[in-house]
Amino acid sequence: MPNSPTPHPFTISIAFDQRLYKQDIAGSKAHARMLGKQGIVSWEEVEAICGGLDAVEVEIESGAFPFREELEDIHMNVETRLAELIGEAAGRLHTARSRNDQVALDVRMFVRDAIDDVISGLRKLQAALLSQAEANTDAIIPGYTHLQRAQPVLVSHHLLAYFEMSQRDIERFRDCRKRVNVLPLGAGALAGVTYPIDREVVARELGFDGVARNSMDAVSDRDFLVEFHAAAALTMMHLSRLAEELIIWTSEEFGFAKLAPEYTTGSSIMPQKRNPDVAELARGKVGRVYGNLMAMLTILKGLPLAYNKDMQEDKEGLFDTVDTLNTTLDAFAGMVDTMAVNRERARRAAEEGVYSGILATDLADYLVTKGVPFREAHGATKALVTYAAEKSVGLDKLTLGEYRRFSALFDDDVFAITVGSSIGARASQGGTAPERVREALSKARQIMETENG
Ligand code: ARG
Repeated sequence: MPNSPTPHPFTISIAFDQRLYKQDIAGSKAHARMLGKQGIVSWEEVEAICGGLDAVEVEIESGAFPFREELEDIHMNVETRLAELIGEAAGRLHTARSRNDQVALDVRMFVRDAIDDVISGLRKLQAALLSQAEANTDAIIPGYTHLQRAQPVLVSHHLLAYFEMSQRDIERFRDCRKRVNVLPLGAGALAGVTYPIDREVVARELGFDGVARNSMDAVSDRDFLVEFHAAAALTMMHLSRLAEELIIWTSEEFGFAKLAPEYTTGSSIMPQKRNPDVAELARGKVGRVYGNLMAMLTILKGLPLAYNKDMQEDKEGLFDTVDTLNTTLDAFAGMVDTMAVNRERARRAAEEGVYSGILATDLADYLVTKGVPFREAHGATKALVTYAAEKSVGLDKLTLGEYRRFSALFDDDVFAITVGSSIGARASQGGTAPERVREALSKARQIMETENG
């Protein structure tokens, strides 16, 4: 037993790394079969090992497995139990392997599965965003910059912006997966092994795209974890922006949307309140995901080659980030899917904006179509908007005479400028005009269908 005497309690990881049991067992079975194929271990023993590992897996999943702290980690727990179940042959499993390449394998397999889960969570969020966007193609909302009413937009256009963010998130996770999906096994402790192993066979059996080229790098590389954490941090940042948006939209002041009751919580003292707790909690959880990224970077900083025990610290943060991301995505998909947009209220806010000048850019553009250089048009419109604000009337309530004080080029057709015409006029590629948004919706649908297929 490599670990006797009993390890210091400080070094024991079984409490958390038991989560890697499935990957550990699958990796061991593939390794054992390769040892058999290469004639390093007899087929009889390989069969005993694989049968025994299946039994261990059943024990773990049924809760009957005797986890033992004195065995330090998941690798030694599984191997020791295997020996109890099948005897002698178990002692051959660790031929041509070290826990250093074993743990690197387990973590890579875990992250690979995690990425697949996260991508499917992001897809569900995209589906919810898209279905809301499709249901709200005629709903108008003020678009904001600096949280000041800026220009009217379609609700669909606003929601599709989050679709784009999620799409980039998916692409980032997919890209990260390429570097995760490289087999470290066969590196041994650090220098390679003395047996005639076949790493390509193991890679193929376990679904890896390739084999790590350098044995020292194979056991010490955790870059893929930094990349995973960074992709997770970006996704959570996006979710926090959406969370913030929903918190604002569902406030009494804005009232542009209402969340389904299961995504809000009552106050223990103020009976009238429904707090957007799910959105707020998600916004808060970004903190731990950023923290885990920073921790991972710091764990690796300054480590000499090859394996160092510091690396055992990679796991708890990883599990925490995976769980946080998956539960947050799941909650958001449901929250977005079930929210109700208050079109009336949103439209009114956009139209009230006429008073404060939400159509001012359109007025400037109007003068530009009459030949005024944009900067000059901007100045005239600014003076006009200031005049209306001082008079406390909406731009739509000014007379043509008043308009003409600011530019002689204003004519009756200026009154045809409305919130609707403003949106319709923004027909440039990627703009909020209804026909552009219809195209964007069908493009988004197409992305979901072709990429999922
Ligand atoms: N529990 C260890 C880890 O998570 C496994 C590898 C241990 N290797 C070693 N030489 N102590 O990193």
